Amino acid sequence: MTVRDIYQTLDYGPAPESAAEAFAWLVDQGDCFGHFINGAFTASGNGFASRNPANNETLATLTQATHDDVDAAVTAARKAQPKWAKLGGHARARYLYALARLLQKHARLFAVLETLDNGKPIRETRDIDVPLAQRHFYYHAGLAQLMDAELPDHEALGVCGQIIPWNFPLLMLAWKVAPALAAGNTVLLKPAEYTSLTALLFADVCRQAGLPKGVVNIVTGDGSVGEMIVTHAGIDKIAFTGSTTVGRRIRELTAGSGKALTLELGGKSAYVVFDDADLDSAVEGLVDAIWFNQGQVCCAGSRLLVHEGIADLFHDKLRARMARLRLGNPLDKCIDIGAMVDPAQLQRVTDIVAGSSGTHFTPEMTLPPEGSFYPPTLITGLSPSDPLMQEEIFGPVLVSATFRTAAEAVQLANNTRYGLAASVWSENINLALDIAPKLAAGVVWINGTNMFDAAAPFGGVRESGFGREGGWEGLLAYTRAKGKTKPLCKIDPFLGDGTGGDGIDRTAKLYIGGKQARPDGGYSSNLHNKTGKIIGQAPIAGAKDVRNAVEAARGAADWGKATGHLRAQILYYMAENLSARADEFARRLNTMTGTRSGTKEVAASITRLFTYAAWADKFDGQTCGVPIRGLALAMREPVGVIGAFCPDEAPLLGLVSILGPIMAMGNRAVLIASEPFPLAATDFCQVLETSDVPPGVVNILTGCHAELAPTLAAHMDVDAVWSFSSSDLSAGIERASASNLKRTWVNNAHVRDWWGPAGEGRGFLGAATEVKTIWAPYGE
Ligand code: NAI
Repeated sequence: MTVRDIYQTLDYGPAPESAAEAFAWLVDQGDCFGHFINGAFTASGNGFASRNPANNETLATLTQATHDDVDAAVTAARKAQPKWAKLGGHARARYLYALARLLQKHARLFAVLETLDNGKPIRETRDIDVPLAQRHFYYHAGLAQLMDAELPDHEALGVCGQIIPWNFPLLMLAWKVAPALAAGNTVLLKPAEYTSLTALLFADVCRQAGLPKGVVNIVTGDGSVGEMIVTHAGIDKIAFTGSTTVGRRIRELTAGSGKALTLELGGKSAYVVFDDADLDSAVEGLVDAIWFNQGQVCCAGSRLLVHEGIADLFHDKLRARMARLRLGNPLDKCIDIGAMVDPAQLQRVTDIVAGSSGTHFTPEMTLPPEGSFYPPTLITGLSPSDPLMQEEIFGPVLVSATFRTAAEAVQLANNTRYGLAASVWSENINLALDIAPKLAAGVVWINGTNMFDAAAPFGGVRESGFGREGGWEGLLAYTRAKGKTKPLCKIDPFLGDGTGGDGIDRTAKLYIGGKQARPDGGYSSNLHNKTGKIIGQAPIAGAKDVRNAVEAARGAADWGKATGHLRAQILYYMAENLSARADEFARRLNTMTGTRSGTKEVAASITRLFTYAAWADKFDGQTCGVPIRGLALAMREPVGVIGAFCPDEAPLLGLVSILGPIMAMGNRAVLIASEPFPLAATDFCQVLETSDVPPGVVNILTGCHAELAPTLAAHMDVDAVWSFSSSDLSAGIERASASNLKRTWVNNAHVRDWWGPAGEGRGFLGAATEVKTIWAPYGE
């Protein structure tokens, strides 16, 4: 091309970045890597090649970790952890700051190495992946510094196993390692097998920073190594980012192990364009939403929903823009679209698209003769149920559908099992802010897309996983409340000789959809007092009753839209009505439990209802100080339908302690009453009936916990299951929860003190809410 040609076409000339430094670093390391364990690289072993997907050349050989390697890494991390935690927030902040500085000093090396290894354009690694990774370490240096003062009642979890994908290798490492270290944990991280090189360069940086040995350990290998980490007994938490299939398997494998778990999984995020949007900006945003990183982004705006009246115009503009996208050598600074991560991923996307219907459009462009390149693709004319509209493609392929009304846009956007992110484009702020809360997504961008920051929580709802990364919320996910927990002991019901007690005959029933109901199976069990006399019968609920209760709860979704003020009023009213019947409840508790603590328990229950009435309009979200023109609102939303097994110890106070936060935060409850002492719960229906609680918001079942747990935990319309049962239900609940990846809180191996401060507060409120981060334009 001559200078004259360039002037005439105004085309971009090639601007390739040199890879010399990156290759020199690989040569320095011997082109052959072991693992990074206890502050040093191990000798390389049986391995596999790491290739450049843009030209299939081998970059280095990596070692497949063995059980012994994983053991050694866990041992090193375990040994280092107490000292690391005891260093204190300031000392850890200094190390995190040093890591941030070193990432900055080696920024170009990281960017080029990432592009070589992953195939993504250098423009992205240079301007997005690496700067965001640095920002993450700077931000978490700050959280470490503040942690001692701001979270004095929290401590580190211990050793964290972290498994990351190949789409943002360094950035995902930063998202995982920085908060874990800030909170005082040590880590064992496994990068994805396609893209381990920047993690190994990071290991080198850890040495340069003088990070104490064993604080960061990195082992390489495929999914089987991931599974070794997941199942290792010496690990306290697993943090995973990757496919929903593997996330579900990890949920099953960790069930009942007591390991904390956060999962950041797939998505099929909607990109909603209204007819009053700035269409040119929306097209530009869409380029970023779906062709950033070749569409290999968990929150990619892969589902375009466009207002019917402007659909043709918008598609025309989009096709014209697609034709100008530049695809080629990822090291070229003028390139928009690089290579896909691996030939296997290329083949996967090729097969999915080849087997699909709809009208396909790809601009005319010449693909490089070698490497894993796939052209930008638009598919229109699909029905909402088409697999391509539902399943994550994870490639540069956009599917598009139209809508007529805002309500239909919301319905289509939410018509997926995922819930990671969504974009809304409209120049009408009323419309955009009306739509944002209605979208089932952990992140919503208004007139923007793919905005991320360390200060803004990121994560999904539904089958996009649970847990948040970023902000205080992300730090909390690497901590637990301080304090001793005591093991739960099983409380058995009193047995009797089948003879009556004092002749009371109030028929206890289930409480479903605002009505007292007989159990579907038609059975009740006798309940005895301490001396063995019958004090009443409790209905034995079965699977059908669980399903009815869930259906009733599902139907009461408007509770989530009620104001905090209204919810507070109803909780106060419940306290008032309980107070009016305090003596009756106290007598019931004394008879059931054979103790004399009834009066005290009722008083504590009234206080607790007041506490949650107080919290109903005070457990607020926050605005996050993100370094771009905009603000990120971390809003608290109800989780949805929460099924909860109530404790046996303090059967009324326990129930109220669980119901309070669930109701206060706008959720609906399916409560399974204490198994040996259910009558306080059935009596409580009368408090609910007289307190203006809308039907379906609270449903109460009685029966055998172990029999009801599988149905409740596997139910696809239940969003979370909590268990404080004294039957050991954790493993079963966590395993069954993998069905729709519902949130679980099953600390029944340890009891909290229902009477004291540990029986209430922010921990409960946090479990009853999801953070939704809404990004909106703001300021200059
Ligand atoms: P993957 O979920 O299999 O891999 C992610 C990480 O998990 C890798 O480090 C892998 O080695 C590890 N892993 C695999 N199996 C494991 C197991 N049984 N136990 C523990 N760790 C395990 O994702 P993959 O195969 O790389 O990509 C397949 C599809 O997954 C993609 O086409 C895409 O649809 C989706 N994906 C989604 C991501 C997201 O961020 N939402 C990221 C990567 C992939």
